[in-house]
Amino acid sequence: MKLAIMSDLHVDRNYLTEEDLRQLIQVLKEENVTALHLAGDTSNSPAQTCAIAAKFSNAGIETTFNFGNHELGEIDDPKQMEDYPDPHFLNLKGRSLSESTTLVGFNGWYDYGFLPGSTTAENEKRKELYLYDRAILRGGKDPMIMDQLLARLKPLLDELSKKKQTVLFATHFVPRPEFILWRSGGSKRWNLLNAFLGSPRLGELLAHYPNITDVTFGHTHHRFPPTKIGSITYHCRPFGYTMEWRLTYRFLIENQLLKPEEFRPRTIKTAVRENREAFDRFKTQHLAEEYRESLSLFSVE
Ligand SMILES: [Fe+2]
Ligand SMILES: [Fe+2]
Repeated sequence: MKLAIMSDLHVDRNYLTEEDLRQLIQVLKEENVTALHLAGDTSNSPAQTCAIAAKFSNAGIETTFNFGNHELGEIDDPKQMEDYPDPHFLNLKGRSLSESTTLVGFNGWYDYGFLPGSTTAENEKRKELYLYDRAILRGGKDPMIMDQLLARLKPLLDELSKKKQTVLFATHFVPRPEFILWRSGGSKRWNLLNAFLGSPRLGELLAHYPNITDVTFGHTHHRFPPTKIGSITYHCRPFGYTMEWRLTYRFLIENQLLKPEEFRPRTIKTAVRENREAFDRFKTQHLAEEYRESLSLFSVE
């Protein structure tokens, strides 16, 4: 069997149509994928994410998912964030892929550990000012939520280690400092938001298990090449927003709508909006490539 893991599809924010999703199913079939896991931020709504998992499953690719921060804003009960009642939801649980291999899904969270020296009060204030996540009612302080999640994850990892299962681990948030970007110059102030990217404590925990071979995550919206650290290979190639896609950059350069030095979120959005029809044609032609670049594929014996 062949597993694909994908994160940050953002179906609603990217205005992905039925035809666009059909293209993704086509790409997965061309890659001989038999199982798919969506590692969070599939959409801004848990109901829509469940519907997408059902759609892919109905197309013959058994699909599971964990949540990212974007699904959580619509959930009022913090308990449901970790134990959502949907058959495709895979969080703090394993899914057997073969006799010897298990996929573990884990929403994860953040604990400000990627911004050393910052206080909880400072980070709470910044979150309130700048982040989508201020709408998420977790029912406790972020570092404490992360404590609780890691305490629930450890017994599952211990059990799979005891059973000598090879583990493929999928999560939404960043588990290691190697995947945190530090900006300089005028963009330096954005470094403060690194507090909300994930938790180095997750990476430390995972490193204790030699049976975990691969860890796939997203949330950072920056694609990295697969990176081996210790015995684990880390995969981070989120699909991300339209303004972040490679196809969008290519469209703007090839049509001489923007020069590389002019690329800013606002200029990209404006240029796409003003050339919507041509962009949509280009998107239809190149979306399959963008999908392929954001898939992490695993052949399972
Ligand atoms: Fe995202
Ligand atoms: Fe996210």
